Amino acid sequence: MGFNIAIDGPSGAGKSTIAKLVAKENGFIYVDTGAMYRAIALYFLDHGLEISDAKDVIGHLPEIKVGIDYENGMQQVLLGEEVVTDRLRAEAVGNIASHIAGIPEVREHLLAIQKDLAKTQNVVMDGRDIGTQILPDADVKIFLTASVDTRARRRFLELQEKGISCNLEEVKQDIADRDERDTKREVAPLKQAEDAILVDSSEMTIPEVVETISKYVKG
Ligand code: DC
Repeated sequence: MGFNIAIDGPSGAGKSTIAKLVAKENGFIYVDTGAMYRAIALYFLDHGLEISDAKDVIGHLPEIKVGIDYENGMQQVLLGEEVVTDRLRAEAVGNIASHIAGIPEVREHLLAIQKDLAKTQNVVMDGRDIGTQILPDADVKIFLTASVDTRARRRFLELQEKGISCNLEEVKQDIADRDERDTKREVAPLKQAEDAILVDSSEMTIPEVVETISKYVKG
């Protein structure tokens, strides 16, 4: 069993930025589980498939092969034979991911790959249910959050930097809707594990958050 750090929290809390840096600082691999849900979402988007009926979604799962690879320490996500990492951050993909992630069979489809990675290596794994469901015995559990306003502002700036035109109010609404779906769903909802450390990054810089978490890793 590797040393496992679980980082859960809502959309836009900075989990992937922080998890990547914590992984680098401690020589661990970073496992982005959201990217796996996004890869399944991309399959539905690319094939023009409906996701409104869970039965249809479940029916397609056997043909969807999500794989993880590491290139110079960076996680690459494969959909079948194709590396799709660069296509996963689109808003449309995130929205579909948030919908299909509520289907138990979709979560089951990704369970083994997530658990196996943590079994064999030292990992920083981020997601929504890592500390509660995937790695309940993780050595360090962090619940990383920030206010909706802060998260919306960060996301808005990130999109603007990428040249994607957007409206702050719409971004905020989108984050609030995603929070609602991720926390209210019946299966593996987003919630803080009882033994997780709460880190609210609203008023913290990135290095401050990394330092706070790394302290728990070093003991
Ligand atoms: O972290 P992210 O935005 O890349 O995740 C995309 C969606 O996938 C998000 O709306 C919730 C879902 N997700 C999940 O349900 N469980 C995880 N462990 C990771 C992501």
